[in-house]
Amino acid sequence: MKTISGFSLLVALVIAAAGVARADTAELFDKKCATCHGKDGKAETAMGRKLNMRNLSDPKVQASATDAQWERVIVEGVKGAGGKNVMPATKLTDAEVKELVKLVRGFKKP
Ligand code: HEC
Repeated sequence: MKTISGFSLLVALVIAAAGVARADTAELFDKKCATCHGKDGKAETAMGRKLNMRNLSDPKVQASATDAQWERVIVEGVKGAGGKNVMPATKLTDAEVKELVKLVRGFKKP
């Protein structure tokens, strides 16, 4: 049983680490993004209505951009008509940005 338990421990650690990464990303989204995009990405928020924001769970919206484009949006933010940022730029790590794109991809509802 010894060899099996060692392996199970490793598996459990890997799964736990992945779970932590996801939880952190969800927390990051809740803190930095959900005020505008909503927890489910549908932008059913005061800001979402004011800025007429797109519904990130819409497959058409999902299909309209590549991961690389969204990574850029998350890093650089979005400028409005007046040249002012309507979505703020962020100072996140590459890994955080990639995880956020994955999380946003997960909003897609058929
Ligand atoms: C102050 C409001 C605000 C905050 C905070 C915000 N966004 Fe945005 N975001 C916008 C606006 C406005 C747009 C452009 C209009 C649209 O696409 O709905 C946008 C666009 C996007 C897009 C591109 C959608 C498309 O149409 O292709 C993604 C992806 C995105 N935001 C992700 C995020 C993530 C991730 C965060 C958190 C790090 C975040 N946003 C924080 C307002 C915000």
